[in-house]
Amino acid sequence: MNVIKAKSVEELNKKAAVMIAGQMLEKPDSVLGFATGSSPLGTYAELIRLYQEGTIDFRQVTTFNLDEYVGLGQDHPQSYHYFMKENLFSKVNIKAENTHIPSGVAADAQAECRRYEEAIGAAGGVDLQLLGLGRNGHIGFNEPDSIFGKETSVVKLTESTIEANTRFFESPREVPKEAISMGIGTIMKARKILLIAYGADKKEAIEKLLNGEVSPQMPASILQLHPQTTIIYAD
Ligand code: F6R
Repeated sequence: MNVIKAKSVEELNKKAAVMIAGQMLEKPDSVLGFATGSSPLGTYAELIRLYQEGTIDFRQVTTFNLDEYVGLGQDHPQSYHYFMKENLFSKVNIKAENTHIPSGVAADAQAECRRYEEAIGAAGGVDLQLLGLGRNGHIGFNEPDSIFGKETSVVKLTESTIEANTRFFESPREVPKEAISMGIGTIMKARKILLIAYGADKKEAIEKLLNGEVSPQMPASILQLHPQTTIIYAD
């Protein structure tokens, strides 16, 4: 793993955006894996800035997001569809048809998982996957478990994740209890991985990711086995 400790969150955002921009310059038709949540917001703001100043171009880029809440349609303000539109897609020249996020309202969720996994394969796989880190070590919504989940599937969110995500909803009751998430196997197939994490509530998970044993109880620890992973973190 290539590990970078940034001196500030601003520095982390810039470094992460530069890595993604570098991927786009090297391969303009890159397939990028994106994440939602608080962690990537600054990175997306930097990418928008690099786009506005003409350094990067999203015209040929394809994206696949990690996950979506089951039960939230794309116009729900807390859906990840809405998040991506608000925080990145509507602000750059990406083609809507090239952006992919699992549907949280598919009539057959299992079929939706299979369709999503196949769509990633049909696009040639992910060149660079951006990840945040859950307080409990989850990546995507792959929660601590006795085994590493392989492919895109419907996952139950843990109490810790529901509690962490309550800040975006009016009450804990409104937080969806399930999501469709890329599996650990799906994530590990990405040619390059970039994980970003910062803040006091991530300290323990970052420490375990960098120095702990590889265990499905700490899903992100599997990244230690990926040949091209960069971790950028800050206090
Ligand atoms: C989001 C995702 C999650 C988050 C993680 C950290 O698409 O897959 O794994 O990256 O929960 O969330 P934040 O950044 O809000 O602390």
